[in-house]
Amino acid sequence: MNDKQVDLIIRNGTVIDGSKAPRYEADVAVKDGRIVAIGELAGYTATQTLDAKGRIVAPGFIDSHTHDDTAVLSHPGMDFKVSQGVTTVIAGNCGISAAPLRHDMELPMPLALVETTPAARFTSFAAYLAAMRAQPSSVNIAAMVGHSTLRAVVMSELDRPANAREIAQMREMVEEAMQAGAIGLSTGTFYPPAAAATTEEIIEVARPLTSRKAIYATHMRDESAHVMDSLEETFRIGRELGVPVVVSHHKVQNQANFGRSQETLPLIRETMKHQCVSLDCYPYTAGSTMIRTDRGMLEGRVLIASSDPHPEMAGRDLDDIAREWGVAKDAAARRLQPGSAIYFMMDENDVQRILAFDETMVGSDGIPVGDKPHPRLWGTFPRVLGHYSRDVGLFPLETAVWKMTGLTARNFGLAGRGTLKAGNAADIVVFDAATVRDAANYTNPTLPAEGIHAVIVNGALTWRDGVHQGARQGQVLTRSNSK
Ligand code: ZN
Ligand code: CU
Repeated sequence: MNDKQVDLIIRNGTVIDGSKAPRYEADVAVKDGRIVAIGELAGYTATQTLDAKGRIVAPGFIDSHTHDDTAVLSHPGMDFKVSQGVTTVIAGNCGISAAPLRHDMELPMPLALVETTPAARFTSFAAYLAAMRAQPSSVNIAAMVGHSTLRAVVMSELDRPANAREIAQMREMVEEAMQAGAIGLSTGTFYPPAAAATTEEIIEVARPLTSRKAIYATHMRDESAHVMDSLEETFRIGRELGVPVVVSHHKVQNQANFGRSQETLPLIRETMKHQCVSLDCYPYTAGSTMIRTDRGMLEGRVLIASSDPHPEMAGRDLDDIAREWGVAKDAAARRLQPGSAIYFMMDENDVQRILAFDETMVGSDGIPVGDKPHPRLWGTFPRVLGHYSRDVGLFPLETAVWKMTGLTARNFGLAGRGTLKAGNAADIVVFDAATVRDAANYTNPTLPAEGIHAVIVNGALTWRDGVHQGARQGQVLTRSNSK
């Protein structure tokens, strides 16, 4: 067999390999879904050749924080991610997962945000992963099990801590998820379904993580006045379980807390000396989640992203809706529930400080629901590359790429991904450093990024110059099979 005959060669590109090392010129050869050689490959022949002259060749981006749990099944083309250069998504965040569920249960918000087809519920994590393997999407997925989801399955009322029997039941479900291939467990104590959970409940439910050193990720209880306490709670859970923790979409919200990333980041850095901590961040000053009515969330400008009773209000300002209806802002919000909204509640300086923190990964937290989602769903990665790295100069392009590839693969234990080197899976993005930019904004939130020329997933050309190529080569990544 001629080992210089390969499936695909990307010629004349500038390689940024995902390790933060400086860029260099090289060809990249791909065969059987893997990178087989990087360098001066004049002697190679390939079935397919891409010319990348003047362009960057980087590892496919790993979206460290998504809610794509069921989108990979309902929208397997995953255009909103592939178009940005994303080749892997981490799902099961904020306490919410697609499995396990019961057929006979109502899903409270925000759990309903990831549900698309109630008829196709998965009663075990194994069934969920099997469905994704049977019907692959265009991206790889690694999934966590959600603590709020487990509470909704096991508990008859969610506004109290779980009792010993319920904790044991949830722990058994975590064990099942771990055996099936979940990479960890997430919590969302910020949200009503888990707000009453104690720290001890979480620790006891999450016990099966310990022997696997699986991930504990959290949308913390409080990201405003009590953010320091929330960080301490998160670190304690990680310590007692002896597992790595991920502080999801780190932020400090509400005007009274603007600037407090100057307190949180030093605490995170100090804690990193003693235990395994990582964090992710999306590059916007607005957040997005279920429609809420509490004053803190409604303090700034609020845009309605989706509303079940009033779909016609998607994309509109809550202030205008309230004025039109002649009611207070919180009353209008209540009428629009259930649904999702965009909340302007962060300070640009905090966003930049957190994003620039060397250990911060990029994660979109995109919510793939409705016509007017937060623009982060389509724009996160090109926004970091174009706006924050190139235009604002927050960090070099090599650092930007590392925050969305090598760092993320390391933190989530995705071996064989996240860097360009021979032997690794051929997840690759080719983009133009001078023109890459996010086009999605709050008015037109579903515009694909510009400057992303080619996206390759497990060796298959999946996106090229604005057009999906139809490939569905995404794999289910687990901590054991992702060598
Ligand atoms: Zn969250
Ligand atoms: Cu989230």
